[in-house]
Amino acid sequence: MNVLILGSGGREHAIFEKIRESSSAEKIFCIPGNAGINDSAITADIAVSNHRELIDFAKSNNIELTIIGPENPLTRGIVNDFESEGLTIFGPSREASILEASKAYSKELMRKYGIPTAEYKIFTDHTDAENYLRSHTHPIVVKASGLAAGKGAKVCTDLEQSLKAIREIMVEKCFKDAGDEVVIEEFMKGEEASVFAISDGNYYKILAPAQDHKAVYDGDRGPNTGGMGSYAPAPLIDDKMMYIIERSIIEPTLEAMKAEGRPYKGVLFVGLMITDSGPKVIEYNCRFGDPETQVILPLLDADLLELLYDSAKGRFAENGILPLKNKHSLCLVLASGGYPGKYFTGYEITGLGSISNSKVLHAGTVLENNKTVTGGGRVLNVVCTADSLREAKKGAYRDAENIKFKDMYFRKDIGDKGVKYYEK
Ligand code: AMP
Ligand code: GLY
Repeated sequence: MNVLILGSGGREHAIFEKIRESSSAEKIFCIPGNAGINDSAITADIAVSNHRELIDFAKSNNIELTIIGPENPLTRGIVNDFESEGLTIFGPSREASILEASKAYSKELMRKYGIPTAEYKIFTDHTDAENYLRSHTHPIVVKASGLAAGKGAKVCTDLEQSLKAIREIMVEKCFKDAGDEVVIEEFMKGEEASVFAISDGNYYKILAPAQDHKAVYDGDRGPNTGGMGSYAPAPLIDDKMMYIIERSIIEPTLEAMKAEGRPYKGVLFVGLMITDSGPKVIEYNCRFGDPETQVILPLLDADLLELLYDSAKGRFAENGILPLKNKHSLCLVLASGGYPGKYFTGYEITGLGSISNSKVLHAGTVLENNKTVTGGGRVLNVVCTADSLREAKKGAYRDAENIKFKDMYFRKDIGDKGVKYYEK
């Protein structure tokens, strides 16, 4: 089977590596890819937003499955466009990907169908939002409803902070029209985890639970990023907890989407807070997580290509938990100093040849005059898979020491919460 992957991050590199293990895989194409993926995949100079050209490319290269990495093409309806031309594509339709595109929609859905989440109120007028904040206790969470590259949620500890957040989102329009509508919600206390279910519209299959590290600094301090590291499986989500999550969140969400005339096909990524009163949804995403995918896929003891193809074709026969290898995976993100704020690119990366324990997945890298240079905020992912989480952590950090580029930054405490959990 010829396959096309759309996207350019560590997530897409991880998908590429797992797909190429499949005995069904023939030619694998990636658009736009990055310096690491395009070392082995075939690429083409087509804008990810140009659905017409991508459709023509898929047809002329006999692509039998297209896999979408990021959310933007999904919310712009790439699945609708490919399917209307008779092409097979993995991911939710425009109508179903509203679960990520509109937090206001997803909160209303959860309320209507009794899916556990934080209490909330939706605002389109900033004076109303300010008055609401003045009459509520803090901490409180202020969120732009639309897509904001993972940076649209602000946890505010006092009124001064929440009023500032509302002003930035609704008046200064820091997230443009993604902030036309705002969700203000109750602060939930607990530990976070990411759960992924691949659905074919009727049934679903569960992948290994993971934990991301969103804040830029050690100890979960500083502004939120796309994710500074991850590990799987997350011991916080044991079998009993997963059972509760399936029954109270995954199944009702997929049923609700069907009832709303937006059947969900593709991967449903549920960001969860495990609170004292049980798991609650923080948000839904309509795609694989980054950097969670980098640790989930090495543990998957199944053919990813067959799985995604069956999802796209609506061929699952039952719900289930996918088989996992008895291993632990940890991903350390090497970032450009300054990220998620301002940072510089174009710095040469060295040491990629001296990795012994891990796999290096590329994210923000480009090939310039035969040299691999930095080209984004999150540059590389060092992923180590081992018999224990502690060993996976040791392997990834040891390899990271060999990689060098100017201003390189990484967190030192990736996986610590999980290691503590296992060793308590
Ligand atoms: P979101 O963009 O909705 O996933 O939120 C980004 C991050 O903000 C989450 O990963 C949490 O760390 C934090 N967050 C969002 N909503 C809440 C909430 N209601 N209570 C506590 N923390 C939250
Ligand atoms: N790691 C969080 C995300 O992919 O949105």
